[in-house]
Amino acid sequence: MTTPKKLFVKTYGCQMNVYDSERMVGALEAAGYETTDTADAADMILLNTCHIREKAAEKVYSELGRLKPLKSANPELKIGVTGCVAQAEGAEIMRRQPLVDLVVGPQAYHRLPQMEARVRAGETALDTDFPEEDKFDHLPRGPRARRGPTAFLTVQEGCDKFCAFCVVPYTRGAEASRPVARILDEARDLVDRGVVEITLLGQNVNAYHGVGEGGAWSLAQLIRALAKIDGLLRIRFTTSHPNDMTEDLIAAHGEVEKLMPYLHLPVQSGSDRVLTAMNRKHSATDYLRILQRMRAARPDIALSGDFIVGFPGETDADFDATLALCDQVRYAQAYSFKYSARPGTPAANRAEVPEDVKTDRLHRLQAVLTQHQQEFQQSMVGRDLPILLEKPGRLPGQLVGRSPYLQPVHLQADAALTGTIVTTKILGSETNSLRGAPV
Ligand code: SAH
Ligand code: SF4
Ligand code: F3S
Repeated sequence: MTTPKKLFVKTYGCQMNVYDSERMVGALEAAGYETTDTADAADMILLNTCHIREKAAEKVYSELGRLKPLKSANPELKIGVTGCVAQAEGAEIMRRQPLVDLVVGPQAYHRLPQMEARVRAGETALDTDFPEEDKFDHLPRGPRARRGPTAFLTVQEGCDKFCAFCVVPYTRGAEASRPVARILDEARDLVDRGVVEITLLGQNVNAYHGVGEGGAWSLAQLIRALAKIDGLLRIRFTTSHPNDMTEDLIAAHGEVEKLMPYLHLPVQSGSDRVLTAMNRKHSATDYLRILQRMRAARPDIALSGDFIVGFPGETDADFDATLALCDQVRYAQAYSFKYSARPGTPAANRAEVPEDVKTDRLHRLQAVLTQHQQEFQQSMVGRDLPILLEKPGRLPGQLVGRSPYLQPVHLQADAALTGTIVTTKILGSETNSLRGAPV
């Protein structure tokens, strides 16, 4: 038997990249690789990149530059760039950084094994196509060894919404949903391998419309079918768009016990003027009405969102509308970003808000969001919550789990309880985590 070659994958960006990295590991394991935790020992390094933040491509180029000594030390080392920067930059990557052997975009990962064979033979390989076939039909499921009781499962990919600031429709392509049967098979397989919580992924996961019995299924139908799988204890999904928040999905939150009371629903801004300029196609009031209906269906739902401050044209009054929206919603948790122009997007050539104004607004928004988050955290203290124990904590004898509201919870518990749900009294709260003890 030949010794397996070593694969090192570094993953940036969203959960979908985490999921894709696992599938690529699965594919390369089938081609004779095993994973390693250090780049130094690797025969193949893949950077699975994200293009959402400022200077994303530049950061990839400097990361690649740092790999140079490894390549000199080991001429057999092959280096690949995957993910959204690979899609956006394409052949430019090999032009600018000749040590790169392989560039593959998110929709062509099923061709990775053939590409690997080509780079082993001394060629370079580039593939940024958007092929017709579903890459996941041709990719082995994931790494042989699963790392814990929770898993991601991509059900939908791509986006047709074209928000004026966003690269995703260009890097991930048009919206596409995987067939129901494939998803249910994969979920059963994950459960057989010890997974008890599945997070369904999609850039617009609630636009899901995969082929199932009797026609196209909604995300709510899919969730109800997944909930019937014995041994699967918890279901989550991310990320949703307000315009796809259908009545049946809202109702599912009140009816499907395994569906966790947490919704990440980005709004980006509280100003209708800005929302229009962003091409979001919903108003702040539309958004607040959806949340109202969510809370009617599931009163304890924890809400999360994304915000962009300093979008081109945003005035003080627009920004105040965002603060006002936050005060109304009181998010359990939220992400906020300074606008940064992405080349090729409609907003990229609009006049920018000055940097110091953006910075000031970001700080003010984050102060408000943090305060609301702390209030939500504090409201958990004294309650008994079902905590799914996921992995060892930092201290000896400690485990970390998640509450239904996605909060990390630290408690002393036997490692053998990993993967089970333990009723836990919440004793204290931090901004990002809780402390508790088994009841
Ligand atoms: N599909 C997801 C968003 C993916 S990007 C959705 O529609 O919700 C994640 C977040 O990054 C976005 O919600 C947005 O808040 C932020 N973002 C995207 N492009 C950005 C840009 N050009 N500048 C600043 N933030 C951006
Ligand atoms: Fe980007 Fe908008 Fe699509 Fe989300 S809905 S991925 S923000 S274009
Ligand atoms: Fe980043 Fe691509 Fe995800 S740009 S956020 S890795 S879809």
